[in-house]
Amino acid sequence: MLLKRTHTCGELTVEHVGQSVTLNGWVDAWRDFGGLVFIDLRDRYGITQVVFEPDAGQELQARAHELRNEHVIGVKGTVAPRLPGKENPKLATGAIEVRVEELTVYNATPTPPFEMHGPEPNEELRLTYRYLDLRRPGMQEIFLIRHRLAQLMRRVMSDLGFLEVETPILGRSTPEGARDFLVPSRVHPGHFYALPQSPQLYKQLLMVSGFDRYFQIARCFRDEDLRANRQPEFTQLDVEMSFVDDHDVTSTMEVLVAAMAREFTGQDLTLPLPRLDYQDVVERFGSDRPDLRYGLELKDIADIAGQTEFKVFQQARASGHRIRGLCAPGGGARYSRKDLDGLSEFIAGMGAKGLIWLKVEADALTGPTAKFFAAEAQQRLRERFGAQAGDLILIVADSQAVTSQALSSLRSRLAAELGLYDPKSFHYAWVVRFPLFAWDAEHGRFVAEHHPFTMPLFEDLPLLDSDPGRVRAQAYDLVINGEEAGGGTIRCHDAEIQSKIFAHLGLTPEEAQEKFGFLLGALRNGAPPHGGIALGVDRLVMLYAGLTNIRDCIAFPKTAKGTDLMTGAPGTVEPRQLKELHLRPA
Ligand code: AMO
Ligand code: AMP
Repeated sequence: MLLKRTHTCGELTVEHVGQSVTLNGWVDAWRDFGGLVFIDLRDRYGITQVVFEPDAGQELQARAHELRNEHVIGVKGTVAPRLPGKENPKLATGAIEVRVEELTVYNATPTPPFEMHGPEPNEELRLTYRYLDLRRPGMQEIFLIRHRLAQLMRRVMSDLGFLEVETPILGRSTPEGARDFLVPSRVHPGHFYALPQSPQLYKQLLMVSGFDRYFQIARCFRDEDLRANRQPEFTQLDVEMSFVDDHDVTSTMEVLVAAMAREFTGQDLTLPLPRLDYQDVVERFGSDRPDLRYGLELKDIADIAGQTEFKVFQQARASGHRIRGLCAPGGGARYSRKDLDGLSEFIAGMGAKGLIWLKVEADALTGPTAKFFAAEAQQRLRERFGAQAGDLILIVADSQAVTSQALSSLRSRLAAELGLYDPKSFHYAWVVRFPLFAWDAEHGRFVAEHHPFTMPLFEDLPLLDSDPGRVRAQAYDLVINGEEAGGGTIRCHDAEIQSKIFAHLGLTPEEAQEKFGFLLGALRNGAPPHGGIALGVDRLVMLYAGLTNIRDCIAFPKTAKGTDLMTGAPGTVEPRQLKELHLRPA
C-alpha cells in the first residue's frame, strides 16, 4: 500500500513540530541503538531523520531493525524537535525528527554495488548501474544545474522573440565535418537517413520560410572519436536569425551569456565581450580557444635565436620552422630538473622534438643551453618575455602547428601547476574571423573550417578566386575558460558564392546539386541574409558544474568506445530485421 507522502525529505522544520506527516524515500543511513533505531531518509529534496522509539511497539521496532541502506520506504509519524545538542545545522531539516508510527517497505533492495556517499566508484561500475549512480546526491545537483540552464535558455530566447521549432532526426546528411550515423530505410532499399550532426540546413530553410528568429534545444549526432569533452550524441542550443550581421548575432547571444553568468556564478559581465581575431589569438596563445584567465603569451624569438650558434635553431630556421616560447612566472624556482624532463616528455607526445628551458636568475639565464645565448641575446630574451628572476623560459623550435600545440598545452599545464588563476573564475570571449577553409594535407584539398554554408568576409571575397586559403569567414566562436562553448557563422545566402565554395571543397556542380540541391534551390527562392550559432549545452553544464568529464552531465552517456554499459547498446538484431532493411549480416 502506498503511504502517500505529505512532505518531501527536505521540507520539515520546527514550524511543523506536532504535525502528523508521511514521508517517502530511500534509507540513506541507519543507526541501531538496540531500543532506538534512527534512519536518515533521503529523496531528491533532502534528508530527514526518522526515529523508531521503543514505545512505538515491538512489531514496528522489529521491522525497523531489518531496514538497510537504499531500502525504499514510507513512514508516517509526528514531527518532534530533536533533543537539545542533537541538532544538525548542516541539514535544512536538522532541527527536527519524525517519530514513526507506521512503516511500509516498498522495496527491500539487495546491498548496492557502491555506497551513495563515500569515494567515487569506478566509472565502469557507475555506467553499468547508472540508475544508482544518478541517485548519488552530487549527480542530482549536476542535473539540477542542467535543468536550470535549459529553462534559462528557453526563457531568454523566448523573451528575445525566438520561436522554438523542432527539426527532423531522420533526415538528409548535414556536413559538420564528422561521420554520419546512418539509418537504413526499409521502404527504400539501399537508401539511408542520416541522423543530424546539427540542425544546420533545416534552420537555414526556416529563415527562407520567414521565421526570422529560431531556436531549438537540439540533439546532435556525430560518429567521431570521443574525448573528455565530446559525446556521439550531444545537445546544442541552436539559433538562427535573419537580416543580421555577425555583431547582431554575438550581441544577441551576449544577453543569454550574461544571464548564464549571473545565474550560475553571480558574475555581472561587462558587455560587449572581447572580440579577438583568430590570427592574433593563434599567434599569441597557440590555440583558437585559449584560456584567457591568465597571460603566459607565446612570443616569437626567431630573431634572437638567429644570433646564436645553436644548431637546433639554425636547423629550424633553415627549414622555415618557427622558434617560439613562453615565460612562466615563478617556474624557474618551482621546477626541478626532473619536472622539466617531464614537461619535455609531455610535449614529445605532440610531435615536439625537444624543449629548451632557461631559468631566469638575477644576473644570468641558466640551463644546459644557456651557454648558446650571449649576454646580449640573454638580455633581449628577458625583455621579449618581460622575465623576472625566478621565472622559467621555455622554447620550442618546430612547425607552426607543432609549436602552437606544444606551447598552448604547456601554457594550460603551467598555469594550473603554478596557480596562475582562480579555477573558480570565468572568462568569456569571442574569437572571430576564422579562415573559411582549412587545408586537409592528407587528402590534398580544402575542407570547410566551420561548415560549407559560411559567408566569407566581404573584403576577402575577391580572394575566393585568387587565393582561397587566405579567405576569412564571418565566423565567431564563444570561448569560455579555454573551451569552445559555441560557434556560428553568417551564412552564404547567395547561391553563386555558395557554388564557388562547393567547388573549392571539391564538389562538382552535379554533386552539389545532388547533395544540397534543396538548399541551393531555397537560397534562390527568397533567402534573407541570415546567420546563427550553436552553443554546446553539455559543455556549458560541465563548465558551470565544475566538471572535467562530459559524461558526468549526460544522464545516460556512452563510454569512450561509444557503448552504453547499462543497456548494452549497440546490440545485435534479429536476422529478420536485417533482411527487412535489405542489409546482409556482418
Ligand atoms: P559546431 O560544430 O561548432 O557548430 O557545434 C557547436 C557547439 O556544439 C558543441 N559540440 C559538442 N559538444 C559535445 N560533444 C560533441 N561531439 C560536440 N561537437 C560540438 C561545441 C560547439 O561549439 N551548425 C553549427 C552551428 C552554426 O553554425 O550555427 C555547429 O554545429 O560546444
Ligand atoms: P640535441 O642537440 O638534439 O641533443 O638538443 C639539445 C637540446 O635542445 C635538448 O635539450 C633538446 O631537448 C633541445 N631541442 C632539440 N630539438 C628541439 C626543438 N626542435 N625545439 C626545442 N628544443 C629542442
